[in-house]
Amino acid sequence: MTFPPYRAHVVAEIPITTRAERERALAVAGYNAFNLPADQVTIDLLTDSGTGAVSARQEAAAAAADRSYAGSASYYRFRDVLAELTHYRHILPVHQGRAAERVLFSSVLAPGRISVSNTHFDTTRANVELLGAQARDLPCAEFTELDSLEPFKGNIDLAALEALLTGPEAGHVGMVLITITNNGGGGQPVSMANLAAAAKLARAHGVPIFLDAARFAENAWLVVQREPGYGTKTPREVAEEAFQLVDGCVASLKKDGISPMGAFIGLNDPALAQRCEGNLIATEGFRTYGGLAAHDLDRVARGVQEVLDPNYLAARAAEAERLARLVNEAGVDIVQPAGIHALYLNAGRLLPHLPASRFPGHSLACALYLEGGIRCVELGSLYLGTLDEQLELVTPAPFELVRVALPRRVYSQGHYDYVAEVLAGIAKQPERVPGYRIVEAPEFLRHFNLRMAPA
Ligand code: F0G
Repeated sequence: MTFPPYRAHVVAEIPITTRAERERALAVAGYNAFNLPADQVTIDLLTDSGTGAVSARQEAAAAAADRSYAGSASYYRFRDVLAELTHYRHILPVHQGRAAERVLFSSVLAPGRISVSNTHFDTTRANVELLGAQARDLPCAEFTELDSLEPFKGNIDLAALEALLTGPEAGHVGMVLITITNNGGGGQPVSMANLAAAAKLARAHGVPIFLDAARFAENAWLVVQREPGYGTKTPREVAEEAFQLVDGCVASLKKDGISPMGAFIGLNDPALAQRCEGNLIATEGFRTYGGLAAHDLDRVARGVQEVLDPNYLAARAAEAERLARLVNEAGVDIVQPAGIHALYLNAGRLLPHLPASRFPGHSLACALYLEGGIRCVELGSLYLGTLDEQLELVTPAPFELVRVALPRRVYSQGHYDYVAEVLAGIAKQPERVPGYRIVEAPEFLRHFNLRMAPA
């Protein structure tokens, strides 16, 4: 039996709203959950980023932080914890993951270069494209079998990677980036065997390889559970090995750092670290705070140690598995097998009366809000499809999914029972869920800003 190795210490109220209030709020928000004021949201499953509950020890460490501009003791604690975990020689703090991406990529990529990944997260892709470079996703073939129980559907397609590194575009590849766990790819883990093979290929062709390690501890936990040869290792040992297989990392610490803010770049190459440091000082902050407040550095230093506790990871994985079971019992399919940080609901299958052009994933996300005040986000044609000038869908995404993210240490079984109940209510009469059309959409990162209407 597993249970969370912590108890609530300070709690926050959650808003309870009426159906009429939710209808009004969603209409005012242009049917876009990113525009909803949080005080209109009952269960917020939009993201697991920066939303985790901090521990009393993190708060104690934060209270004792050293706010010196240069050389603060908080920085040395941050650096030592991350250097011991990753074994990288250079640890640069930045305020969040996308800043790490911008700083590192601008030292590695240039117009016309290619960044190749199992899947770039959306800000990661945006930071590659802002440099005039190209983001190329090579997810493994197993990912497209949403129902299959393959253990490592987050892997990169090694044959496709090799073909790229030996083909006509080989000279243009600027870096390989492996996202663990693969957030854009169903939250699925990457195996150590896949990571090692990708690193070997990259090295053989003189291309640097980095981790996007936002969920390093959760990936390590799934490796311990699923990969032959790793069953007796600790999540910490697996995470250390993963970091050492590659040349460096970018990592948002708003996820597995269990902190409201923070991230870092880890590197071995001194020349690359120096280039990044120059950029960091010009755009984020001095190298010993990188845009973070001292209390953030200390919260992260403590959070990174807490997240690797096997009892915590076992309870967190069990929570996701339990919700996955309840969701399946409610008649809703998810991307299998359940990962840890989120469940990805198969909205396309649940709402067959809605064509991709009416955005079934978005429709399900709106229904969850209207029925239960639950906020989550579409990962389907609204996010990935291409539109014409009239904002009609031209190329749909391969799947119409909804990501239900699970904040760390925040909600308990009762909350998740409620989520499953709301979903079961929708799944009883799925044909009643209306579709949506796009009314207004910016060109870049449109899902954050677009406005929709029922259609
Ligand atoms: N990489 C991955 C894999 C991520 O999931 C995220 C953020 C980032 C980079 C960027 O980090 O937010 O600190 O700037 N993911 C959040 C999410 C926003 O909801 O999945 P950040």
